[in-house]
Amino acid sequence: MAPSNPTWWKESVVYQVYWRSFFDADGDGYGDLEGVIRKLDYIRELGVDVIWLNPVYESPDRDNGYDISDYEAVMPKAGTMATWERLLDEVHRRGMKLIMDLVVNHTSDRHPWFLESRSSKDNPKRDWYIWKEPRDGGPPNNWRSYFAPSPWTQDEETGQYYFHSFASEQPDLNWRNPEVREEIYRMMSSWLDKGIDGFRLDAIALLAKPDGFPDAERPEDIRYLTNNPGLHDYLREMNERVLSRYDIVTVGEAAFVTPAEGLKFVGEDRRELNMLFHFEVCDEMASWDMRRFKDIQRRWYEGLWGKGTNSQFLNNHDHTRQVTRYGNDGRYRVQSAKLLATMLHTLPGVPYIYQGEEIGMTGVRFGAIEDYDDIAMRNRYAEEVDKGADPAETLARLAPLSRDNSRTPMQWDGSPNAGFTEGKPWIRVNPNYADINAAKDLADPDSVYRYYQSLISLRRTHDVMVYGDFAEWPERRGDEHLYVYERTLDGRRWLIVLNHGDEPARLDRPERLRGLSLRLLLANYPADPAEGEDAMQLQPHEARIYEVETNRN
Ligand code: GLC
Repeated sequence: MAPSNPTWWKESVVYQVYWRSFFDADGDGYGDLEGVIRKLDYIRELGVDVIWLNPVYESPDRDNGYDISDYEAVMPKAGTMATWERLLDEVHRRGMKLIMDLVVNHTSDRHPWFLESRSSKDNPKRDWYIWKEPRDGGPPNNWRSYFAPSPWTQDEETGQYYFHSFASEQPDLNWRNPEVREEIYRMMSSWLDKGIDGFRLDAIALLAKPDGFPDAERPEDIRYLTNNPGLHDYLREMNERVLSRYDIVTVGEAAFVTPAEGLKFVGEDRRELNMLFHFEVCDEMASWDMRRFKDIQRRWYEGLWGKGTNSQFLNNHDHTRQVTRYGNDGRYRVQSAKLLATMLHTLPGVPYIYQGEEIGMTGVRFGAIEDYDDIAMRNRYAEEVDKGADPAETLARLAPLSRDNSRTPMQWDGSPNAGFTEGKPWIRVNPNYADINAAKDLADPDSVYRYYQSLISLRRTHDVMVYGDFAEWPERRGDEHLYVYERTLDGRRWLIVLNHGDEPARLDRPERLRGLSLRLLLANYPADPAEGEDAMQLQPHEARIYEVETNRN
């Protein structure tokens, strides 16, 4: 297949900073921008190129910043605009780039635009949001929203319903209205003019809404919220008016897309976005399923390679941590965290690291609903308990996938509150912090953090990891524990061997590799000198990267 055009962002590794849980510099219990500045060397040392910063805009914070009430101000919990500017400078001074998380599908219900819009039917901003008359005295259709039983909330004043894909505090903007688009483009340009390096575009597949909002046959399948006609016209317009004018990178959060659909967002000839997050893994694959994962990778590779860029990640701030959900966070936690990293950094696409992943942080179980902060979890719990479900059973069922699993504070050291804050943390710290923390990892040459450093530095020095074609070993395609694949570029050939199982496994060398020497570049177990040429004896959760000598002399 044709290799893709070399571009800086394809070669990068992105580190996601969920700042409110990263480092608290002022002791109020929330991480903040000053805290991020203080920890920039830690991030830089890892070797990453780009930082994705979760939303810092003014917000009532019902959904942790994804409910913006002023796009051009910084929320006091995070700091001030001056601190944000210093952060940008400090990031750039260290040779890294900063991308901002931006939410343009919806605003907060406290945004002045919405306050005006809801104030009367003939307010000039009425049409900036989506308002409908009741149907038979109830909501205009039978849909669900992500965070609420219905995406429609009635406004007492005018009797009409407004539309919200997420919580009722997050009304959707009406993208059909050109004034809305103009204002959003102006705002985006003003951030880019400050010198940022791009955007992560939240819920971007939701911008367009279908004509007439017809009822859904199966309301519980909320795909109808996404990928509606008109979406790509908006993205092309956004690209033409704003994005194409800067040397930046954009990554779109695109739920429910197939590779063919995904290519519409990131096809290089389409002039929309640069990369996307699809959620065939995180939203749709509840626990590890190797065959399914391989199939997903294969389909996305075939659909995108040479035409558009994928992202590799197994969790962000919306999911349970990868080593808990998809790996082994018990006996093999360290090996498993390293294996998952090896996989994400050697599969085709740009790897994303979610803060704490680089020290193998795990998910968490809290004992009471009050300990959970996540609006999605709290709303779902209230809905089910209201309908008569048993509270303890509901909590136990919702906890494994609660978004708070990944939102507990970064574990810096073994001191109280994991060294995250001197105050009371906004969300409880994972009790395993004495065991799992950055200070320990920095002091240990075999730690998960040190392994990430090696992996990232390999990527920096070997473009086969970025631009190499990908092929699985056909004999292991159906294997439920082993994932074996090669990346090749200009006569260079790499072999990646992963044993994702809790048991040892043997991997025979196929005929085509007999006689070729393999040079081990990185592994998460020490090499066994007794291992013969014909077969590899893999330990549980073992990962190896080899260079295959194509030319022996
Ligand atoms: C995205 C964000 C999530 C947020 C939602 C609504 O999925 O990642 O945290 O709740 O959009 O903005």
